Amino acid sequence: MDESKLEQTLVLIKPDALMNSLTGYILSTLSEFHTGLHFCGAKVVHVSKMTAAEHYAEHREKNFFPALLEYIMGRIHYADEPWKQRVIAIVYQGPDAIRKIRSIVGPTNPLEARMKKPGCIRALGTVVPLKDAEGNVIGERMDNLIHASATDDDAEREIKLWFKPSDIPPLMHAYPSEFSEDFYYLKENKLFKTYEPDCICIFAPGEIVWKSDLDTLQQLSKGKPSSGSLESVVAKYLINDDRVA
Ligand code: RTP
Ligand code: MG
Repeated sequence: MDESKLEQTLVLIKPDALMNSLTGYILSTLSEFHTGLHFCGAKVVHVSKMTAAEHYAEHREKNFFPALLEYIMGRIHYADEPWKQRVIAIVYQGPDAIRKIRSIVGPTNPLEARMKKPGCIRALGTVVPLKDAEGNVIGERMDNLIHASATDDDAEREIKLWFKPSDIPPLMHAYPSEFSEDFYYLKENKLFKTYEPDCICIFAPGEIVWKSDLDTLQQLSKGKPSSGSLESVVAKYLINDDRVA
């Protein structure tokens, strides 16, 4: 198989796009007919704070970070209807998938998107001022409808954050997976390999998991340093699990 065809990218249809019924428009715009890309994963997710913070980890120090988490968790657009707080996560695959989708999505700032790339998806977004307790403007929140991975490394990290191997058809896996031979449990944000009362099972023996996640839990359970964090694994394997806040 031509390796270039395996390039994958993560798209999130954000809560403002859901609220404005732009889902169909976005899916049509990104359809195989228009982009030549194929779906390889799709799910509806009630975004936990842990998943939101992992997804936007690079922005942890920015002043807009708390507002960004509230936004992607749907708490801004569905403040009074928590059951509607969700995003649609999709993996697309095909040649040049990352660049193609970023180009159709357009610039981060919707005002800039309208000026520089009329017709792009984010041209339909809005920018909202962020204020401190005294009402002074301290920044802005960009409600830009859609997320798309920016680089190969981002795509790998993000796809593995939002999707388990079993969410993607086996012949479309772009990253190595493995079967866990052990139990791994979570309790009070700590990792255990044996059952504890009130713990949550993260992996069970025989479960197919991303190899990098298994490596992370194996290292952490031995008290050794790891390239990934416990949160990055838990955030994904417990997606849509209301025991994770
Ligand atoms: P995304 O990750 O959502 O696809 O957006 P992006 O790559 O185009 O932009 P990025 O720099 O990764 O920013 C992530 C999200 O944070 C919000 N943002 N606000 N106020 C600001 O200066 C600012 N900068 C970024 C946006 O919602 C952006 O999508
Ligand atoms: Mg980004």
